[in-house]
Amino acid sequence: MTVRIAPSILSCDPADFASPVRDLAAAGADVLHLDVMDGQFVPPITFGADLAVSLAKVVSIPIEAHLMVQAPERHVGAFLKAGCFRVIFHAEATVHAHRLAQEIREAGAEAGVAINPGTPVEALYPLLDVVDLALVMTVNPGYGGQRLIPGCLEKVRALHSLRPDLGIEVDGGIDPETAPKAAQAGATWLVAGSFLVSGADIAGNMRRLRESCA
Ligand code: DX5
Ligand code: ZN
Repeated sequence: MTVRIAPSILSCDPADFASPVRDLAAAGADVLHLDVMDGQFVPPITFGADLAVSLAKVVSIPIEAHLMVQAPERHVGAFLKAGCFRVIFHAEATVHAHRLAQEIREAGAEAGVAINPGTPVEALYPLLDVVDLALVMTVNPGYGGQRLIPGCLEKVRALHSLRPDLGIEVDGGIDPETAPKAAQAGATWLVAGSFLVSGADIAGNMRRLRESCA
């Protein structure tokens, strides 16, 4: 199965998200990955649902929100209202992950649940029937440009063997060297940030990334 690419704009200059987003969409990005951070679940603060509204006017590709926030149930509604096709929250950030996933789906969006490198994959098992996607963090969340933690791919393997039908997204440290390893482990979606937007040739970076895991 061909993996799909979800570029993250975390490494882009916040003074101008529109230009790289246009380039990423033109280069064939499948969806746009917005890394939402609240300064509590992770140290940085990035942006809110208004950015999703603005970027939806710039490109027509679907937008997914990766909520690295405490109490995601307080924020999911804003991203649903902003038109995100998928909202991904962290299992570590709420005691009601099962209910929140149901609510996202009832609102007509895809529900995704994410786990940090230090969280056992078993934490996802009670949620697999109420989510459309599991996001396996392969870096500690909060920052772009980090190196992929190889051991995290064992979680991808475990999830894929348990549920071959499940969408599995790998997020962190994805480049042409790590992408094939993630795809081979069973990833169906790859988030890539710093690799894709490094330098001026976004289209060439996208092509190299896709070729690496074709
Ligand atoms: C990190 C974010 C990732 C990150 C990926 O907390 O969730 O999406 O932006 O960036 P790279 O590809 O540079 O690791
Ligand atoms: Zn992310």
